[in-house]
Amino acid sequence: MKILVINGPNLNLLGTRESDIYGTMTLEDINANLEELAKELGVELMISQSNHEGKIVDLIHNAKDCAALVINPAAYTHTSVAIRDAIAAVDIPAVEIHLSNIYKREEFRHKSLISPVAYGQVSGFGPDSYLLGLRAAVSIANAKIGNS
Ligand code: DQA
Repeated sequence: MKILVINGPNLNLLGTRESDIYGTMTLEDINANLEELAKELGVELMISQSNHEGKIVDLIHNAKDCAALVINPAAYTHTSVAIRDAIAAVDIPAVEIHLSNIYKREEFRHKSLISPVAYGQVSGFGPDSYLLGLRAAVSIANAKIGNS
């Protein structure tokens, strides 16, 4: 089973970016932990990061052979109708994740355009949000296979 992991803008700077909010782990560190968990769960990961909205839309369109999507849309969470529509357009369950608890932060971060089309959201557990999100994605993908 393949799971697509997408990271949005500025997440390539994790480790040095606003470390009081996002911690000191780099995206490479997070990806290494994800790969370790993926091995344990017996799934294959396709991991990507982009600072460009259209690139993220293309990644979602091209995910047809993936059983689920784990996405941290970053700032696009709060602005992107295009990413929201891309998730709604493909028949792949999506788990939205955030390192920080977006509801504890500035008001403009309280609204996610992605949540209404996501299966669920994990927000506020730092790098563990990715691991929890992957576990959730595998679980819902397995349930979908079981029901089909
Ligand atoms: C974020 C939260 C977003 O509001 C922010 O724009 C990000 C990261 C998070 O992981 O906490 O870039 O998605």
